[in-house]
Amino acid sequence: MSVLLSLTKFLLISSTVTILSICYFYMETGKCASPLLHRTYNSMPNVTRQQKSCSCPRSGFDLRQFVNKDKFNDIVKRRAEVYEKDKLRKKTILNELLLAPPNSPLQYPIQGFIVSPLKKGIIPGLSVHIVQQQNYQVTLSVSSGVLAVESLQEKGKVKGQGEKVLSISASSLQSLNDLLGQVSYRSTVYSIKSGDLVHFTFGQHKAIFPVVIREPTIPVLYDLGKDVNSHVTVTTKTFLRYPEVNYLIRSIRTFYKDIKIIIADDSIEPQKVNGTNIEQYFMPPAQGWFAGRNLAVSQVTTKYFLWVDDDFYFTEDTKIEKFVEIMESMPELDVVAGSVGKLANSFTLIYEEGDEEGGCLTRVKGNYQPIPGIPNCFFTSGVINFFLARTDAVRKVGFDPLLKRVGHSEFFMDGLGELLVAICPEVGLNHQRRRANAAYHHFRRPPKSDTDNKLYLHFFKNRLKCMKW
Ligand SMILES: *[C@@H]1O[C@H](CO)[C@@H](O)[C@H](O)[C@H]1NC(C)=O
Repeated sequence: MSVLLSLTKFLLISSTVTILSICYFYMETGKCASPLLHRTYNSMPNVTRQQKSCSCPRSGFDLRQFVNKDKFNDIVKRRAEVYEKDKLRKKTILNELLLAPPNSPLQYPIQGFIVSPLKKGIIPGLSVHIVQQQNYQVTLSVSSGVLAVESLQEKGKVKGQGEKVLSISASSLQSLNDLLGQVSYRSTVYSIKSGDLVHFTFGQHKAIFPVVIREPTIPVLYDLGKDVNSHVTVTTKTFLRYPEVNYLIRSIRTFYKDIKIIIADDSIEPQKVNGTNIEQYFMPPAQGWFAGRNLAVSQVTTKYFLWVDDDFYFTEDTKIEKFVEIMESMPELDVVAGSVGKLANSFTLIYEEGDEEGGCLTRVKGNYQPIPGIPNCFFTSGVINFFLARTDAVRKVGFDPLLKRVGHSEFFMDGLGELLVAICPEVGLNHQRRRANAAYHHFRRPPKSDTDNKLYLHFFKNRLKCMKW
């Protein structure tokens, strides 16, 4: 039995080797047996992401209806122009598709070669692995920086020192690889985040690999301190609701005597809120939700802030320490939300880029997957107004102050792909019962024009053609 097995193994291995070597032989002469391999070898396809029209979800908003009809063409043209500029800002050579040819004798770094702008680095791992031959000729070329062989002894073997195209010749494999081991790349154009591609050619063999050019970033760290008061600031925004704010503050002080509370206040007739360790920021009247959130978050000095609405109140279940523990155990997380009353609402965002008409966005109630190692927590795209967040991450996304009275989840739209969001419904607080407040409710009820303006904002700013909310 075992003899039979070894025999089969032998046959399998030897036939594989034969096939490989036939192919290798053909490769050397430029005629590999497989037409597929041949094609792959000769032409690197230029693949960019296909722009495909996206289909509007049924019963969603067709945002094109919220664009001024007379100006439609002009607006679409302007939008296309700013979109092109935005793409240029984000464009990088490092996203190009690179294929590795089969059976290449070239060794090179596939990824991970990083150079600081205007600095130099030795390209790691460059060499050729092939049977002995008479002489060897290798060419390396780049498009934005320059190449050189460092500490070069015999100048005759190298052409193009300090230029974009470097040719190296050698009479032995050993000396070729010695020279290749000393090739450096120097960045010559200042940029903070870009790249270059190195074309590495030996006879018919060709490889392309990336150089990442990146200015190193300086860490910005928060000293977490010893207790929850040094980890977290409670932030809220209020407008014409002082009884609610006072109730909220009393409930916070029941469980957290000393935690700092920041209040952004755009009430029409502002009143000073009473209490210790409270920072109240007065704004011009009726600046709106998102402007207030921006102001409150801009004043936070702790690593995390806890967002609450002014009509919430803390309960036994409002365990801020639990949120901090979750965030600290998974540093990739940016936002972790809990539940408000019995509700732990969250949603995922499905976004398609679309073609020149614009993209499509759908908001779907629910979550992605449970978070490994953290029981009863789930990844999601967006949550309600009770969450703990990393201050630095949220500041980068920001709250668009153009959204004054309509908007809730729009912050998470801007944060899609930027913020890793989770929901852990076991941590919770409650909603205060609704008080009679005619002035507030008058302001709170947005006129239709607010909603229309918001939908137009999504048409232009987010380059969407439709959305289902
Ligand atoms: C703070 O206290 C003063 C004096 O008692 C009071 O007039 C004021 O209304 C209080 N502020 C709020 C927001 O309740």
